[in-house]
Amino acid sequence: MNKKIVLGIETSCDDTSIAIIEKTDELKVLSLISYDQEASLKKWGGVVPEVAARNHLTKLPSLLDESFKNLEYTINDVDLIGVTVTPGLLGPLLTGLNCAKSLSLVYKKPILPVNHLYAHLEAIHIDQNISYPYLGLLVSGGHSIYFWVESKSSFVVLGSTIDDAAGEAFDKGANLLGLGYPGGQNIDKKAKLGNKDRFEFPIGLKSSADCRLSFSGLKTALRVFLDKNKFAPDSQDFYDLCASYQEAIVKALSLKLRYAIKKVKEEFNTKDFQIVVGGGVACNSALRETLQQKYNDVYFVSPKYCTDNGAMIANYALINQDDALSYPKSLELDARGRFINKKDYL
Ligand code: KG4
Ligand code: ZN
Repeated sequence: MNKKIVLGIETSCDDTSIAIIEKTDELKVLSLISYDQEASLKKWGGVVPEVAARNHLTKLPSLLDESFKNLEYTINDVDLIGVTVTPGLLGPLLTGLNCAKSLSLVYKKPILPVNHLYAHLEAIHIDQNISYPYLGLLVSGGHSIYFWVESKSSFVVLGSTIDDAAGEAFDKGANLLGLGYPGGQNIDKKAKLGNKDRFEFPIGLKSSADCRLSFSGLKTALRVFLDKNKFAPDSQDFYDLCASYQEAIVKALSLKLRYAIKKVKEEFNTKDFQIVVGGGVACNSALRETLQQKYNDVYFVSPKYCTDNGAMIANYALINQDDALSYPKSLELDARGRFINKKDYL
């Protein structure tokens, strides 16, 4: 088989990440270097788009240099550049896209514009064997969507959140709990020490028989609870609270997965299919445990490829290499902040 070297660039939010992958008979992630802006963004209490964009600009050249440092390849050997163009924060997206365009201009390389959400799910192919069609649950800081993934180029939305994303529920909850940003991992850690059945939190849209999600009421319920109850940060009560709050998110995602499965069976007339879970929240240990217990054939993207990373971008570009734009067409690419379907940006 032909060898392909793909460079992936991810800058849609606050992670600057570059990966180089090699595909022969098998896929190898040769290098994956990420810089999370946590320290610099901490003082702002979250992501400030302009600050994040400036940080990407400063970091991209050195990360690029570092990526090739211990490899037998140089940028000249790269066959294809994948870069996130949607969805995300516009300023940050444009810094990555302009980096890709500069490389395309100087080295005459083609670019594959990447949809970040699809890339999160397709990251399953980096190190696991999954075939199309599959039911994908994408749970990240900005999105929570059940997709029916018919093929590499057909992602049908089955249902999504009507307000906050699951990651947002973790991050905002962590903020209220005094656990800081980013919240998901912190709640996950504390929840391991607690009893998830101690307190009851609401499950949004529980009685609607579809796969829409809602997390904004949960956050409000936590605020009201905290107004009435004060727990010391490292007490058993506090661990129980973290576990119970997390459990409401996990229960909602698990319940609505059942409706997503039902919808696929009814509308797409398909009985047997695999389930793929990706995005930052797919790192969550309780979510992994619960879905694996309740459902057959459920596969999680490996944790190192769940949160935003260049490898998932390079991998998506590799899968869709036939759609790449050669130089100089590559220079006409644009970025879009809001989630749009593949055909609209190609
Ligand atoms: O996919 P991602 O890196 O960025 C977006 O595309 O949004 O996801 C980030 C989200 C954050 O909300 C973070 O709190 C959450 O993933 N997250 C987790 C865990 N690790 C990261 N949420 C729950 N449990 C975790 N272990
Ligand atoms: Zn993401």
